[in-house]
Amino acid sequence: MSSMLEQLAQLKVKALAELAALATTDETRSWYGTVLGRKGELTALLSGMMQLPKEERPAVGKLANEIKAELEAALQERQAAIALEEMTQALSAEHVDVTLPGRRPQIGAYHPTTTALREIVDILVQMGFQVYDSREVESDDMNFGLLNFPPGHPAREMQDTFFTTNPDVILRTHTSPGQIRAMREYAPEPVRLIMPGKCYRNEDVTARSEMMFYQVEGLVVGRSITFSDLKGVLLNFANQMYGEGRKIRFRKSYFPFTEPSVEMDVDCILCGAKGCRMCKYSGWLEITGAGMVHPVVLRNGGYDPAEFSGFAFGMGIERQAILKRSIDDIRYFYDNDVRFLERIA
Ligand code: PHE
Repeated sequence: MSSMLEQLAQLKVKALAELAALATTDETRSWYGTVLGRKGELTALLSGMMQLPKEERPAVGKLANEIKAELEAALQERQAAIALEEMTQALSAEHVDVTLPGRRPQIGAYHPTTTALREIVDILVQMGFQVYDSREVESDDMNFGLLNFPPGHPAREMQDTFFTTNPDVILRTHTSPGQIRAMREYAPEPVRLIMPGKCYRNEDVTARSEMMFYQVEGLVVGRSITFSDLKGVLLNFANQMYGEGRKIRFRKSYFPFTEPSVEMDVDCILCGAKGCRMCKYSGWLEITGAGMVHPVVLRNGGYDPAEFSGFAFGMGIERQAILKRSIDDIRYFYDNDVRFLERIA
Protein backbone atom coordinates (compact mmCIF):
# COMPACT_ATOMS: atom_id res chain seq x y z
CA MET A 1 0.00 0.00 0.00
CA SER A 2 2.56 2.48 1.09
CA SER A 3 4.52 1.71 -2.03
CA MET A 4 1.60 2.83 -4.19
CA LEU A 5 1.23 6.10 -2.25
CA GLU A 6 4.98 6.57 -2.48
CA GLN A 7 4.99 5.88 -6.16
CA LEU A 8 2.27 8.50 -6.59
CA ALA A 9 4.25 11.03 -4.55
CA GLN A 10 7.40 10.26 -6.60
CA LEU A 11 5.50 10.62 -9.84
CA LYS A 12 4.31 14.02 -8.70
CA VAL A 13 7.82 15.22 -7.82
CA LYS A 14 9.30 13.94 -11.07
CA ALA A 15 6.46 15.37 -13.20
CA LEU A 16 6.68 18.80 -11.55
CA ALA A 17 10.43 18.88 -12.09
CA GLU A 18 10.00 17.99 -15.77
CA LEU A 19 7.27 20.57 -16.17
CA ALA A 20 9.45 23.30 -14.73
CA ALA A 21 12.11 22.53 -17.36
CA LEU A 22 9.76 22.90 -20.35
CA ALA A 23 10.21 25.88 -22.65
CA THR A 24 7.50 25.73 -25.32
CA THR A 25 3.76 25.25 -25.57
CA ASP A 26 4.34 22.18 -27.74
CA GLU A 27 6.48 20.60 -25.04
CA THR A 28 3.76 21.15 -22.42
CA ARG A 29 1.31 19.32 -24.68
CA SER A 30 3.48 16.26 -24.93
CA TRP A 31 4.19 16.46 -21.21
CA TYR A 32 0.44 16.26 -20.62
CA GLY A 33 0.22 13.16 -22.80
CA THR A 34 3.10 11.44 -21.03
CA VAL A 35 1.98 12.22 -17.48
CA LEU A 36 -1.78 12.77 -17.38
CA GLY A 37 -3.02 11.43 -20.73
CA ARG A 38 -5.13 8.34 -21.27
CA LYS A 39 -1.98 6.27 -21.81
CA GLY A 40 0.08 8.37 -19.41
CA GLU A 41 2.13 7.47 -16.35
CA LEU A 42 -0.63 8.25 -13.81
CA THR A 43 -3.13 6.01 -15.57
CA ALA A 44 -0.52 3.27 -15.83
CA LEU A 45 0.20 3.53 -12.12
CA LEU A 46 -3.46 3.47 -11.12
CA SER A 47 -4.13 0.38 -13.21
CA GLY A 48 -2.39 -1.52 -10.39
CA MET A 49 -5.04 -0.33 -7.92
CA MET A 50 -7.28 -3.35 -8.50
CA GLN A 51 -4.62 -5.56 -6.96
CA LEU A 52 -4.76 -3.57 -3.72
CA PRO A 53 -6.85 -4.66 -0.76
CA LYS A 54 -10.24 -2.96 -0.86
CA GLU A 55 -9.67 -0.82 2.25
CA GLU A 56 -6.52 0.71 0.86
CA ARG A 57 -8.05 1.85 -2.36
CA PRO A 58 -9.86 5.03 -1.12
CA ALA A 59 -6.65 6.57 0.22
CA VAL A 60 -4.83 5.83 -3.02
CA GLY A 61 -7.73 7.14 -5.09
CA LYS A 62 -7.91 10.30 -3.03
CA LEU A 63 -4.20 10.99 -3.35
CA ALA A 64 -4.28 10.23 -7.06
CA ASN A 65 -7.10 12.78 -7.54
CA GLU A 66 -5.25 15.40 -5.52
CA ILE A 67 -2.06 14.85 -7.48
CA LYS A 68 -3.95 14.94 -10.74
CA ALA A 69 -5.59 18.25 -9.82
CA GLU A 70 -2.28 19.64 -8.60
CA LEU A 71 -0.45 18.66 -11.79
CA GLU A 72 -3.22 20.08 -13.93
CA ALA A 73 -3.07 23.38 -12.08
CA ALA A 74 0.72 23.39 -12.38
CA LEU A 75 0.41 22.70 -16.10
CA GLN A 76 -1.98 25.59 -16.59
CA GLU A 77 0.28 27.93 -14.73
CA ARG A 78 3.32 26.79 -16.70
CA GLN A 79 1.45 27.10 -20.00
CA ALA A 80 0.36 30.62 -19.15
CA ALA A 81 3.93 31.56 -18.29
CA ILE A 82 5.27 30.03 -21.51
CA ALA A 83 2.58 31.70 -23.61
CA LEU A 84 3.46 35.05 -22.08
CA GLU A 85 7.15 34.45 -22.76
CA GLU A 86 6.45 33.40 -26.36
CA MET A 87 4.27 36.46 -26.92
CA THR A 88 6.90 38.77 -25.50
CA GLN A 89 9.51 37.25 -27.75
CA ALA A 90 7.29 37.46 -30.84
CA LEU A 91 6.46 41.09 -30.07
CA SER A 92 10.06 42.09 -29.80
CA ALA A 93 11.06 40.07 -32.86
CA GLU A 94 8.32 41.60 -34.99
CA HIS A 95 8.68 45.04 -33.55
CA VAL A 96 7.77 47.81 -35.99
CA ASP A 97 8.97 51.31 -35.33
CA VAL A 98 6.07 53.36 -36.59
CA THR A 99 8.05 56.54 -36.05
CA LEU A 100 10.66 55.63 -38.70
CA PRO A 101 10.35 57.82 -41.80
CA GLY A 102 8.72 56.03 -44.76
CA ARG A 103 10.60 55.00 -47.89
CA ARG A 104 9.55 57.20 -50.78
CA PRO A 105 8.57 55.04 -53.76
CA GLN A 106 10.29 55.81 -57.07
CA ILE A 107 7.56 57.33 -59.20
CA GLY A 108 7.90 56.92 -62.95
CA ALA A 109 7.05 59.60 -65.48
CA TYR A 110 5.88 59.71 -69.04
CA HIS A 111 8.58 59.78 -71.66
CA PRO A 112 8.69 63.19 -73.37
CA THR A 113 7.76 61.51 -76.65
CA THR A 114 4.67 60.02 -75.03
CA THR A 115 3.70 63.38 -73.56
CA ALA A 116 4.09 65.17 -76.89
CA LEU A 117 2.30 62.38 -78.76
CA ARG A 118 -0.65 62.56 -76.38
CA GLU A 119 -0.87 66.33 -76.64
CA ILE A 120 -0.86 66.18 -80.43
CA VAL A 121 -3.35 63.32 -80.63
CA ASP A 122 -5.68 65.01 -78.10
CA ILE A 123 -5.74 68.25 -80.07
CA LEU A 124 -6.46 66.54 -83.39
CA VAL A 125 -8.99 64.07 -82.01
CA GLN A 126 -10.86 66.98 -80.50
CA MET A 127 -10.97 68.51 -84.01
CA GLY A 128 -12.64 65.33 -85.30
CA PHE A 129 -9.71 63.21 -86.45
CA GLN A 130 -9.74 59.48 -85.80
CA VAL A 131 -6.63 57.48 -84.98
CA TYR A 132 -5.62 54.91 -87.59
CA ASP A 133 -2.93 52.36 -86.78
CA SER A 134 -0.67 51.56 -89.68
CA ARG A 135 2.30 49.22 -89.88
CA GLU A 136 5.99 49.87 -89.30
CA VAL A 137 7.26 47.18 -91.65
CA GLU A 138 6.21 48.11 -95.15
CA SER A 139 6.59 47.17 -98.77
CA ASP A 140 8.76 49.37 -100.94
CA ASP A 141 5.63 50.13 -102.95
CA MET A 142 3.61 51.42 -100.00
CA ASN A 143 6.45 53.51 -98.66
CA PHE A 144 7.52 54.93 -102.04
CA GLY A 145 5.97 53.69 -105.30
CA LEU A 146 2.28 54.26 -104.54
CA LEU A 147 3.19 57.60 -102.97
CA ASN A 148 4.39 58.71 -106.37
CA PHE A 149 8.11 58.16 -105.85
CA PRO A 150 9.14 56.60 -109.19
CA PRO A 151 11.91 53.96 -108.99
CA GLY A 152 15.31 55.61 -108.94
CA HIS A 153 13.72 58.99 -108.21
CA PRO A 154 16.14 61.22 -106.28
CA ALA A 155 13.45 61.94 -103.67
CA ARG A 156 13.95 58.40 -102.38
CA GLU A 157 17.39 59.45 -101.29
CA MET A 158 15.89 62.11 -99.03
CA GLN A 159 14.92 59.19 -96.84
CA ASP A 160 17.71 56.65 -96.43
CA THR A 161 16.04 53.35 -95.96
CA PHE A 162 16.54 50.31 -93.76
CA PHE A 163 16.02 47.23 -95.90
CA THR A 164 15.39 43.68 -94.78
CA THR A 165 16.99 40.74 -96.59
CA ASN A 166 14.02 41.02 -98.92
CA PRO A 167 14.59 44.39 -100.66
CA ASP A 168 10.84 44.82 -101.10
CA VAL A 169 10.29 44.69 -97.34
CA ILE A 170 11.54 47.78 -95.55
CA LEU A 171 11.09 49.72 -92.34
CA ARG A 172 8.87 52.66 -93.17
CA THR A 173 10.79 55.91 -93.49
CA HIS A 174 7.69 58.01 -92.76
CA THR A 175 4.08 57.50 -91.73
CA SER A 176 2.81 58.45 -95.21
CA PRO A 177 2.35 54.82 -96.42
CA GLY A 178 -0.51 54.78 -93.90
CA GLN A 179 -2.27 57.18 -96.31
CA ILE A 180 -2.46 54.47 -98.96
CA ARG A 181 -3.51 51.79 -96.48
CA ALA A 182 -6.23 53.98 -94.97
CA MET A 183 -7.55 55.18 -98.31
CA ARG A 184 -7.72 51.63 -99.64
CA GLU A 185 -9.61 50.60 -96.54
CA TYR A 186 -12.17 53.44 -96.62
CA ALA A 187 -12.52 54.62 -100.26
CA PRO A 188 -14.90 55.99 -101.45
CA GLU A 189 -15.94 57.22 -97.99
CA PRO A 190 -14.47 60.54 -96.84
CA VAL A 191 -11.75 60.16 -94.19
CA ARG A 192 -10.29 62.36 -91.46
CA LEU A 193 -7.46 60.39 -89.87
CA ILE A 194 -4.28 60.73 -87.90
CA MET A 195 -1.69 57.99 -87.93
CA PRO A 196 0.93 58.13 -85.20
CA GLY A 197 3.87 55.77 -85.02
CA LYS A 198 7.54 54.95 -85.33
CA CYS A 199 9.61 55.61 -88.43
CA TYR A 200 13.14 54.55 -89.30
CA ARG A 201 15.87 56.14 -91.35
CA ASN A 202 19.32 54.84 -92.02
CA GLU A 203 20.98 58.12 -91.14
CA ASP A 204 23.95 59.17 -89.09
CA VAL A 205 22.74 59.95 -85.60
CA THR A 206 23.27 63.63 -84.86
CA ALA A 207 21.78 66.27 -82.59
CA ARG A 208 19.06 66.67 -85.20
CA SER A 209 18.42 63.17 -86.49
CA GLU A 210 17.88 59.75 -84.98
CA MET A 211 17.54 56.37 -86.70
CA MET A 212 14.19 55.85 -85.07
CA PHE A 213 11.69 58.60 -84.40
CA TYR A 214 7.96 59.18 -84.28
CA GLN A 215 5.67 60.95 -86.69
CA VAL A 216 2.00 61.76 -86.80
CA GLU A 217 0.47 61.70 -90.25
CA GLY A 218 -2.76 63.55 -90.91
CA LEU A 219 -5.03 62.74 -93.84
CA VAL A 220 -8.32 64.26 -94.89
CA VAL A 221 -10.07 63.18 -98.08
CA GLY A 222 -13.49 64.41 -99.12
CA ARG A 223 -15.48 66.04 -101.84
CA SER A 224 -14.45 69.66 -101.54
CA ILE A 225 -11.38 69.77 -99.37
CA THR A 226 -9.21 72.81 -100.06
CA PHE A 227 -5.92 74.26 -98.97
CA SER A 228 -7.91 76.57 -96.64
CA ASP A 229 -9.03 73.50 -94.70
CA LEU A 230 -5.40 72.48 -94.30
CA LYS A 231 -4.49 75.96 -93.16
CA GLY A 232 -7.37 76.09 -90.69
CA VAL A 233 -6.45 72.77 -89.12
CA LEU A 234 -2.75 73.62 -88.82
CA LEU A 235 -3.40 77.11 -87.43
CA ASN A 236 -5.80 75.68 -84.87
CA PHE A 237 -3.23 73.03 -84.02
CA ALA A 238 -0.44 75.62 -83.62
CA ASN A 239 -2.59 77.72 -81.28
CA GLN A 240 -3.48 74.77 -79.09
CA MET A 241 -0.03 73.24 -79.08
CA TYR A 242 2.09 76.37 -78.78
CA GLY A 243 -0.27 78.98 -77.32
CA GLU A 244 -3.02 81.32 -78.48
CA GLY A 245 -2.18 84.03 -81.00
CA ARG A 246 0.52 82.06 -82.82
CA LYS A 247 1.39 83.17 -86.30
CA ILE A 248 2.01 80.54 -88.93
CA ARG A 249 3.52 80.72 -92.37
CA PHE A 250 3.80 78.35 -95.29
CA ARG A 251 6.92 77.91 -97.36
CA LYS A 252 6.81 76.12 -100.66
CA SER A 253 8.38 72.70 -100.54
CA TYR A 254 8.42 69.43 -102.41
CA PHE A 255 7.03 66.00 -101.61
CA PRO A 256 6.18 63.55 -104.42
CA PHE A 257 2.84 62.71 -102.80
CA THR A 258 1.46 66.23 -102.33
CA GLU A 259 0.88 69.07 -104.78
CA PRO A 260 1.30 71.79 -103.85
CA SER A 261 3.68 70.92 -101.01
CA VAL A 262 4.59 73.20 -98.13
CA GLU A 263 6.45 73.39 -94.86
CA MET A 264 4.57 75.13 -92.09
CA ASP A 265 6.40 77.32 -89.59
CA VAL A 266 5.17 78.85 -86.36
CA ASP A 267 6.64 82.07 -84.95
CA CYS A 268 9.37 81.23 -82.45
CA ILE A 269 7.83 80.53 -79.06
CA LEU A 270 11.13 81.14 -77.28
CA CYS A 271 12.03 84.63 -78.52
CA GLY A 272 8.66 85.81 -79.84
CA ALA A 273 10.08 85.90 -83.37
CA LYS A 274 12.88 88.30 -82.40
CA GLY A 275 15.53 85.74 -83.30
CA CYS A 276 17.35 83.28 -81.04
CA ARG A 277 19.45 80.13 -81.10
CA MET A 278 16.41 77.87 -81.22
CA CYS A 279 14.95 79.49 -84.35
CA LYS A 280 18.45 80.03 -85.73
CA TYR A 281 17.78 83.80 -85.69
CA SER A 282 15.00 83.42 -88.26
CA GLY A 283 12.08 84.03 -85.90
CA TRP A 284 10.35 80.88 -87.20
CA LEU A 285 10.21 77.23 -86.19
CA GLU A 286 9.47 74.50 -88.69
CA ILE A 287 6.57 72.37 -87.47
CA THR A 288 5.38 70.11 -90.26
CA GLY A 289 5.43 69.19 -93.90
CA ALA A 290 2.05 69.26 -95.61
CA GLY A 291 0.22 69.64 -98.87
CA MET A 292 -2.75 68.68 -101.00
CA VAL A 293 -2.86 64.96 -101.71
CA HIS A 294 -1.44 64.36 -105.18
CA PRO A 295 -4.04 63.11 -107.72
CA VAL A 296 -1.88 60.05 -108.42
CA VAL A 297 -1.93 59.19 -104.73
CA LEU A 298 -5.69 59.69 -104.50
CA ARG A 299 -6.10 57.33 -107.41
CA ASN A 300 -3.71 54.78 -105.88
CA GLY A 301 -5.83 54.95 -102.75
CA GLY A 302 -9.03 54.27 -104.69
CA TYR A 303 -10.51 57.79 -104.99
CA ASP A 304 -11.37 59.52 -108.25
CA PRO A 305 -9.37 62.77 -108.21
CA ALA A 306 -12.05 64.40 -110.37
CA GLU A 307 -14.47 63.99 -107.46
CA PHE A 308 -12.27 63.90 -104.39
CA SER A 309 -9.54 66.06 -102.99
CA GLY A 310 -7.61 65.96 -99.77
CA PHE A 311 -4.77 67.27 -97.68
CA ALA A 312 -2.08 65.57 -95.67
CA PHE A 313 0.54 66.56 -93.18
CA GLY A 314 3.31 64.72 -91.40
CA MET A 315 5.07 66.01 -88.32
CA GLY A 316 7.89 64.70 -86.15
CA ILE A 317 6.84 64.10 -82.57
CA GLU A 318 10.25 64.51 -80.99
CA ARG A 319 10.56 67.78 -82.89
CA GLN A 320 7.41 69.12 -81.21
CA ALA A 321 8.76 68.06 -77.80
CA ILE A 322 12.13 69.65 -78.62
CA LEU A 323 10.47 72.96 -79.48
CA LYS A 324 8.02 72.98 -76.61
CA ARG A 325 10.50 72.00 -73.95
CA SER A 326 13.65 73.61 -75.37
CA ILE A 327 15.54 70.34 -75.69
CA ASP A 328 18.65 70.87 -77.76
CA ASP A 329 19.54 67.35 -78.87
CA ILE A 330 17.28 64.58 -80.19
CA ARG A 331 19.78 61.93 -79.04
CA TYR A 332 18.68 62.45 -75.42
CA PHE A 333 15.31 60.91 -76.19
CA TYR A 334 16.44 57.32 -76.62
CA ASP A 335 19.69 57.31 -74.61
CA ASN A 336 17.59 56.35 -71.59
CA ASP A 337 19.54 58.62 -69.30
CA VAL A 338 17.20 58.89 -66.34
CA ARG A 339 18.54 62.36 -65.47
CA PHE A 340 17.20 63.67 -68.78
CA LEU A 341 13.90 61.85 -68.41
CA GLU A 342 13.47 63.21 -64.88
CA ARG A 343 14.39 66.76 -65.80
CA ILE A 344 12.02 66.86 -68.71
CA ALA A 345 9.06 65.03 -67.15
N1 PHE B 1 6.17 62.19 -95.12
C1 PHE B 1 6.80 63.47 -95.12
C2 PHE B 1 8.15 63.35 -94.41
O1 PHE B 1 8.39 62.40 -93.72
C3 PHE B 1 5.96 64.51 -94.42
C4 PHE B 1 4.68 64.80 -95.12
C5 PHE B 1 3.54 64.09 -94.86
C6 PHE B 1 4.59 65.82 -96.08
C7 PHE B 1 2.34 64.35 -95.48
C8 PHE B 1 3.43 66.12 -96.70
C9 PHE B 1 2.31 65.40 -96.40
O2 PHE B 1 8.98 64.22 -94.50
